[in-house]
Amino acid sequence: MLNFEFKNPTKILFGKGEIAKISKEVPANAKVLMIYGGGSIKNNGVYDQVKEALKDHEIYEFGGVPANPEYEVLVNALQFIKEKDIDFLLAVGGGSVIDGTKFLSAAANYDGEPWEILTKSVRTFEGEGLPFGTVLTLPATGSEMNSGYVISRRETNEKLSSGGPGLFPQFSVLDPEVVRSIPARQIVNGLTDAYTHVLEQYMTAPSPADLQERIAESILISLQETAPKVLADDFDYEAAGNFMWCCTMALNGLIQKGVITDWAVHAMGHELTAYFGIDHARTLAIIAPSHYRYNFEVKKGKLAQYAERVWGIKEGTLEERAEAGIRKLEDFFHSLHIQTKLSEYTEDFQGTAERVEKAFTERKWTGLGEYKKLTPQDAKKIVEMSY
Ligand code: NZQ
Ligand code: ZN
Repeated sequence: MLNFEFKNPTKILFGKGEIAKISKEVPANAKVLMIYGGGSIKNNGVYDQVKEALKDHEIYEFGGVPANPEYEVLVNALQFIKEKDIDFLLAVGGGSVIDGTKFLSAAANYDGEPWEILTKSVRTFEGEGLPFGTVLTLPATGSEMNSGYVISRRETNEKLSSGGPGLFPQFSVLDPEVVRSIPARQIVNGLTDAYTHVLEQYMTAPSPADLQERIAESILISLQETAPKVLADDFDYEAAGNFMWCCTMALNGLIQKGVITDWAVHAMGHELTAYFGIDHARTLAIIAPSHYRYNFEVKKGKLAQYAERVWGIKEGTLEERAEAGIRKLEDFFHSLHIQTKLSEYTEDFQGTAERVEKAFTERKWTGLGEYKKLTPQDAKKIVEMSY
């Protein structure tokens, strides 16, 4: 097992009715800015629960953060934060609202052009950001218990990430009841995103970190088993709870400790969202199978372990089991009605591979992946294989 440090300071309030408890988590004398998205919280009762819980607090609102949180929208919130001397942020939404809030937390005390935080990947250390909490409404990203965020800028067709140990939420409420109102399209996105988060930290080489390996495999199996239950017509509270906790556990830092991690699927996927507006999770389903086929030689040991331990495939040579693992992965995405080819999302796909190669070269992303060896030319070939 590799050396590691692990600190995750986010307090989790899990379960039905827990939103009411945020009154005790948000400092009584804080000037709070509640940040939310396009309005789903006004239709499912979450907005009312938050307002009721914070009825004795000084609270302002900023709504309209779009999916793939947009820089141009967030700078308006930043101005408001400065004008009103806001000192606590409360994100009420999915990954986009939470990520937007993390960016605002980082930018509030940053001297200089806020976009630099993304282009220069400026990290935010403990005590540097504005404190914030979250009420999660969409299980998917794990942003509610990690310190990373991703911001989009339409003007320049960019989608960039940053983070730092100062950007963990102080608390996050995980009430599975919110899953009731999530449309099927977003549920399958959440399942796919969380599943791929595990793969990014797992599909490298077999590792001696037994516990991390087994936890990762458990999350994958739990997501597979939970998928049909959360997609059924009747709401199933226990399934919703498992779905939610799997998504959080997939990316709260735990399973990446002591092991090597990849993350190249996300790097390529973010480009597809920036160019075509494809939902984040779907970009991962487009890239992942090709990425694993392209890097088959280095990943085949782990692919075979995945096939065996997660899907019960015990027959065949190592190579045959590894390939069967990739096919199982594709079948799983297809079972969620998630397409795995770029051409199934846009007719405009020609030239995308060259565009990704150019963007990575310009950003000097010359060594991605678990061994920092994946070049922009490799990325080009993987994206081409994903057409
Ligand atoms: O905006 P509203 O009206 O709230 O509607 C949202 C949005 O349209 C809706 N929704 C959320 N909760 C709902 C609901 N609709 C009904 N009922 C509810 N309870 O769902 C839509 C999508 O929401 P969004 O927040 O965009 O989705 P998600 O959580 O998948 O977040 C995606 C963003 O997170 C980034 C992605 O790149 C993308 O920008 N990621 C963040 C990560 C992190 N911070 O660790 C890691 C991920 O890999 C990912 O990159
Ligand atoms: Zn993701």
